[in-house]
Amino acid sequence: MSDLSRRDLLKSVAAASAGIGLAQLGFAAPADAEPTAPVAESMMGVRFEPRDVPRIAIVGTGLRGRSVLGELLGVGNVRITALCDIVPEKVEMAKAQMKKAGHDYEPAVYTAGEHDFEKLCARDDIDLVYTATPWRWHVPVVLSAMRNGKHAATEVPAAYTIEDLWTLVDTSERTRRHCIMMENCCYGYNELMVLQMVRGGLFGELKHGGAAYNHDLRSILFETKDEGLWRRAAHTNRNGNLYPTHGLGPVARYLGIHSGDRFDYMVSVSTPEMGLTKWRAEHVPKDDPRWRERYACGDLNSSLIKTSRGRTIRLEHNVSSPRPYSRINSIEGTNGLFEDYPPRIYIEGRGKNDTWATIDTYRDEFEHPWWKQQGERARTGGHGGMDFIMAWRLVECIRQGLAPDLDVYDAAAWSAPGPLSERSVATGSAPVKFPDFTRGKWRAKGE
Ligand SMILES: NC(=O)c1ccc[n+]([C@@H]2O[C@H](COP(=O)([O-])OP(=O)(O)OC[C@H]3O[C@@H](n4cnc5c(N)ncnc54)[C@H](O)[C@@H]3O)[C@@H](O)[C@H]2O)c1
Repeated sequence: MSDLSRRDLLKSVAAASAGIGLAQLGFAAPADAEPTAPVAESMMGVRFEPRDVPRIAIVGTGLRGRSVLGELLGVGNVRITALCDIVPEKVEMAKAQMKKAGHDYEPAVYTAGEHDFEKLCARDDIDLVYTATPWRWHVPVVLSAMRNGKHAATEVPAAYTIEDLWTLVDTSERTRRHCIMMENCCYGYNELMVLQMVRGGLFGELKHGGAAYNHDLRSILFETKDEGLWRRAAHTNRNGNLYPTHGLGPVARYLGIHSGDRFDYMVSVSTPEMGLTKWRAEHVPKDDPRWRERYACGDLNSSLIKTSRGRTIRLEHNVSSPRPYSRINSIEGTNGLFEDYPPRIYIEGRGKNDTWATIDTYRDEFEHPWWKQQGERARTGGHGGMDFIMAWRLVECIRQGLAPDLDVYDAAAWSAPGPLSERSVATGSAPVKFPDFTRGKWRAKGE
C-alpha cells in the first residue's frame, strides 16, 4: 500500500473510532494512539558524542534557514559543511553570509531538485543536518539524515500526521541519532525566567498553562514569494491548529511534560473561516489563480489539553485575523500566576493584593543563567535573542557531549496537537488521546 493510501486508511479508522468513542464510550482512542513495541532503547538523556567543532549542514536556505545560519555563524566553533536548496540563488545568499562571517572555505552545495538533500545526507563530513524547508519536507529530510547516521534538527512543527511522528520516534531510537525540533521559543528571555520561577517553586503546585500562536500572517500568506509559496496550502485542506509548538513548547517545559507528566487527551473547536477570504477579496485581483482556492481552516482554533496528572492547557492558533502578536505564555499554580503579552505576575503575599506586578523585581532572583551569560550577545540576534541562545545551546551540547535540551519525544508530543486538533474538530470536538511517544518513560522525574 502506498504511504498516502496507508495514511488515508489510518485517518479514516481514527475518525471512525473517534465517532464511536463520542457516541458510546465518551472517549476517543484512535488506533495510532497506542504505543507500538519499542524498536530500541529510549533516546531520552542520550548524550551527543563530543565534537569540538560541530559540522552542520543546512537544507532549506530560505528566510529561516539563513536566519539560523546567521546565529550559528555568530556562535562560532562550527563548520558549515554543506548547503542545499532547490533555488540556487538562495544557497548563494547563504554562501555570501558565510564569507562575510569569515568562513573562508567552500561548503558543498546541493541544488539539483527536491531530493538532492539525500545526497547531502550521505556525505561523511556532517554531524547534524538542520532543515528549514516547507513543512512537507521536514520528515523526509530528517529521516534521510538519521538513516545516514547524522543527528537531525528540524524547524517547527516536526510533522503533521501521527503516523509520521511515530516514524520519527522509531527512527531516532533505531538509528541512535537525535531528532531535535528547534523550538526557539523555549529559549526566550521570559520563558526561561519563568522556567526558573517554576523550578524555584514560586508558583506553588502548577495547575494550568496557556499557549498560543496568535500572529497576523495574512499578508505573508498571500505573498508570491517565500512562505506565500507554500504555507497558505495548509489552510485549504486542514482545519485545526496548524502551528502548535511555539506556545506549547515552553508551557510543556514549565509543566515538566516527559519529566513526571505527559499530555493525555485534548478537545478542540474552530471558528468559521473568514479572515483569508476577506483578505483575498480586499487585496487579490479577481482574475488571480488564488481565487480558485477555498479556505477550510477556521480563523481561531481553541483546544484544551488535559495532562495525566490532571493539569490543563489552553492552546490557541490564529494567523488569519487582525490582531497583535501573542503566544499567551501563561502558567498558574497554587501561589499565583504569570501571564505574558504583556508580561505580568501575581504571587500571593508578594506585592499588592489583587494587583498585577511587573516582572522587574523578579529579574535578579530568577533571570536564567544562559541569559546572564549570553544575553548581551543574544540581543543582537533574531526574535529578541532566543534564536541565538538556541543556536548557542545546540553547539554547546554537541561540543560538551551533553544530551540535547529537546529530544524526539518533545518534537512528537508538541507537534501532535496539529493532527489531533483536526480530528477533534472533525468529530464535533470529541476528546482525542495523545499517543505516549515515550512508551511510559515520561514517568521518570528530573532532567
Ligand atoms: N522557529 C521560527 O521562529 C520560524 C520562523 C519562520 C519559519 N519557521 C519554519 O521554518 C521553515 C521554513 O520557513 P521559511 O520562512 O524559511 O520559508 P521559506 O519559503 O523562506 O524557505 C523555505 C526554503 O526551502 C526551500 N525548499 C523547498 N523545498 C525544498 C527541498 N525539497 N529541498 C531543499 N530546499 C527546499 C525553498 O526553496 C526555500 O528557500 C518552516 O518550517 C517554518 O515553519 C520557523
